Amino acid sequence: MAKVLLGFMGSGKSTIARGLDPDFVDMDAMLEERLGMSIARFFEEKGEAAFRQVESEVLDDLLKTDQVVSTGGGVVISLRNRVLLKQNADNIYLKAGFETLYQRISADKDNQRPLFLKNSKEDLAAIFKERQAWYEEVASKVIDVSKLSPEEIIEELR
Ligand code: S3P
Repeated sequence: MAKVLLGFMGSGKSTIARGLDPDFVDMDAMLEERLGMSIARFFEEKGEAAFRQVESEVLDDLLKTDQVVSTGGGVVISLRNRVLLKQNADNIYLKAGFETLYQRISADKDNQRPLFLKNSKEDLAAIFKERQAWYEEVASKVIDVSKLSPEEIIEELR
C-alpha cells in the first residue's frame, strides 16, 4: 500500500516524504515531467481543470504501488481522488494553521505556486478552509507539524 503525504501547500510534504524514503515519489515533479512544462505554465496555458485531470491520472498510477508519495495540496478536491486514497493508501495529513502556511508559501521564491500568485490572501484562506475537512476525511493519521521539526515529524511517522 502506498504511504501518502497530504496537506496544504507549504506543509512540508516533500521534505517529510524524503525523510521517510529518499526514493519517494514527488507527484508535482512527476506531473511536470508528464506535462512537459512547469505546473505554473500549464495552469496558464491550459487551466486548472486540465491540470486536475492529469493529476488524477498520475494518482491512479501511484496508488497501485507501495511507494512513499508526496502529493500536491489540491489532490483532495476531487471526490473520486478522495475515495481512491481512502481505499488504497495509508494517508498522513501534515496539519498546520493558515498563517504559518501562508508565510511559508510567500517565502518560497523557488516554487511560486499558481494558486498563490492568482489569489488574494483572503481567497487562499477560503481555499484552505474548504480543503481542511477533506484532508481530515481522508487521513488515517493527522500530525500537527507547526510545532515540530522535520526530524521530529519523521521520527513520529517511522
Ligand atoms: C496545488 C499545490 C501544488 C501543485 C499545484 C496546485 C494546490 O503542490 O500541485 O500548484 O492546488 O494546492 P504543493 O502542495 O506541493 O505546493
